[in-house]
Amino acid sequence: MQVIIQPTAEKAARLAALLIADQIGTNPFTVLGLATGRTMERLYSQLVELYSSGKIDFSKCRSFNLDEYVGLEPTDPHSYRSYMNRNLFDKINIDKESTHLPDGVAEDYAAEARHYEELIEQAGGIDLQLLGIGRSGHIGFNEPLSALRSRTREKGLTRTTIDQNSPLFDRPEDMPSRAFTMGIGTILDARKILMVVTGSEKADILAKAVEGPVTSMISATALQLHESTVVIADEDAARDLQAQDYYHWLYENEPEWRKYHDKV
Ligand code: F6R
Repeated sequence: MQVIIQPTAEKAARLAALLIADQIGTNPFTVLGLATGRTMERLYSQLVELYSSGKIDFSKCRSFNLDEYVGLEPTDPHSYRSYMNRNLFDKINIDKESTHLPDGVAEDYAAEARHYEELIEQAGGIDLQLLGIGRSGHIGFNEPLSALRSRTREKGLTRTTIDQNSPLFDRPEDMPSRAFTMGIGTILDARKILMVVTGSEKADILAKAVEGPVTSMISATALQLHESTVVIADEDAARDLQAQDYYHWLYENEPEWRKYHDKV
């Protein structure tokens, strides 16, 4: 795992977007794993900007989102499908037919979960998975005690997650308490992982996720088992990390990062 600290949330999002642009530049057929949430909104607007200035072509990409609320139609404005259309898909040249989210209104949860895993496999697996982290330590909606090898399934959400996300609903009580989510095992199968974490309210959980012991109580700690994970944090979120000096040194000195210095 590499941790990169940027001075602001804006710069963290910018660097993440540049990494994605490079990935798609190298492999135009990239299969993207996508996330939703407030952190990703900033990142998606950077991606839209790069697309609008001709620096990314999404036309051959395919995508799989991490999760979707159970019980919400894709057309519901609070569904993650609507979120993705609004924040990214409607603004870039990805073929919507190549974008996938679990079907929140599927009747047979187990069959839908199996089908989603099969679709990912048929696409050849995920090349680059984007992640945020929840205050409960979740990645996707893998709440505490999710098995570290779990696959896509339907899951109950914790009170912490409901408190985190219900303000985004017109009536907070309308937030579903269950969701489909890729499992931790599904996420760890991605060839590369890019997690973006911003804001002081994530400082405590980020330190536990990155520098604490691996535990199913904090799903994000499983990323320590992955061979190619980059975590980009802003200074507020990085506040509690013990090895900050080393992470700064890495970004300043490693050749792979130097090329981004004047672009961020
Ligand atoms: C959503 C998802 C979640 C979010 C996390 C952070 O698709 O995968 O794990 O990334 O809850 O959300 P924000 O960015 O709103 O704090």
